[in-house]
Amino acid sequence: MSGKETREDEPQVMRGLEGVVAAETDISYVDGVNGELYYKGYSIHDIADTCTYMEVAYLLLNGDLPTTRQLEEFRRQTVSEMRVPAQAIKMMEIMPPSSHPMDVLRTTVSSLSYFDHDATDTSPQANRRKAIRLIAQIPTIVAHLYRIRRRESILSPDPHISMAANILYMFHGGVPSEEHMRAMDQLLLLQADHGLNASTFAARVTASTHADMHAAVTSAIGTLKGPLHGGANERVMKMLKEINNVDEVEEYIESMLAQGQRVMGFGHRIYKKEDPRARHLRESSEALCRTSKDRNFFEIAHRIENIVLQKKGIYPNVDFYSATVQHALGIPEEFYTTIFASSRISGWTAHILDQYQNNRLIRPTSKYTGTFNRKFIPINARTDSEETR
Ligand code: ACO
Repeated sequence: MSGKETREDEPQVMRGLEGVVAAETDISYVDGVNGELYYKGYSIHDIADTCTYMEVAYLLLNGDLPTTRQLEEFRRQTVSEMRVPAQAIKMMEIMPPSSHPMDVLRTTVSSLSYFDHDATDTSPQANRRKAIRLIAQIPTIVAHLYRIRRRESILSPDPHISMAANILYMFHGGVPSEEHMRAMDQLLLLQADHGLNASTFAARVTASTHADMHAAVTSAIGTLKGPLHGGANERVMKMLKEINNVDEVEEYIESMLAQGQRVMGFGHRIYKKEDPRARHLRESSEALCRTSKDRNFFEIAHRIENIVLQKKGIYPNVDFYSATVQHALGIPEEFYTTIFASSRISGWTAHILDQYQNNRLIRPTSKYTGTFNRKFIPINARTDSEETR
């Protein structure tokens, strides 16, 4: 066969793998038709206001919600693993101040494998220890980087408080208010897992080659960064700041849509209704945004929500109100996606353990669109006008 011909055995391409079932998992379920999300069978609505992120991380790793004793043990174990090696901190200090926090996080997490005494042990026990260590270390890396960037001394995690409280403490110093602690806890809880999203899929693909846990999580962080995935939250805040006045929302959004641009923080591959996480974050954001500046951002966001729904029939996703929540918690926008990673690490590691346990190499096929049997021309006979592909 020569030239560009269609072969009879050509597979059908599912663009963006839409509708392709690529794994079996009982970790979480995204019900796009009804706009529901389940963690290990629990509806997100039943746990969003009552559980803590630590309970959810335990649930994702162990399959059941912990008892009080199990939770305290898990909290203590996790918080005791929050310190990151001095060499990794040094590396963060010498990275260019202009580098994006997600890039620094990706490189630092990758480097943690050099210092992890379980790095080359791929037994289920060692993999679980590494999972807990990464759940513990990622928030510390993020908070340390924030303070390094501000030329402030880094703060060691406090072993007596929760993960959410520790993140706020290591960012800002001082004990966070009960309200801020709860808001951070809920933000982490809501972003902990979400079916076979792009970054989790990337983690599972890497794990499916029997690469180690640090390699799989590094893949996931690189994937989360993109603006079509976790990177959208940062763009949401940039948009809110650019609009800055609730009266200008309509014109701004109309102009974006007229130019065929995407409104960040809206739309979803699976949800045909409202993303259930957005509802809780909207409520949290409204409660937190009491000062006039924060209030302004909440009102702009709410107006955008109404206009995009009215004009495009598209709902906000988790990234939309996570921006206003994080702004109210004093997190700068370039760190928003790193906070997302600080939560999603529990889902990633649960999925990586799941993949190792029931592994088959993930290796899809592609539809070849090239040609066959091109005439080979030796290099010394090729001319500039000749295609050299
Ligand atoms: N703003 C405007 N239009 C949109 C948006 C949006 N945010 N999202 C989808 N659409 C439109 C598309 O233009 C397209 O319209 P068309 O059929 O007229 O061309 C239609 O809706 C379908 O869009 P697709 O790109 O095919 O949907 P897909 O499932 O591939 O994409 C995605 C989902 C990437 C999330 C998309 O909605 C988007 O780009 N949103 C903005 C970025 C964002 O918020 N990402 C975070 C997602 S949540 C998360 O990952 C944590």
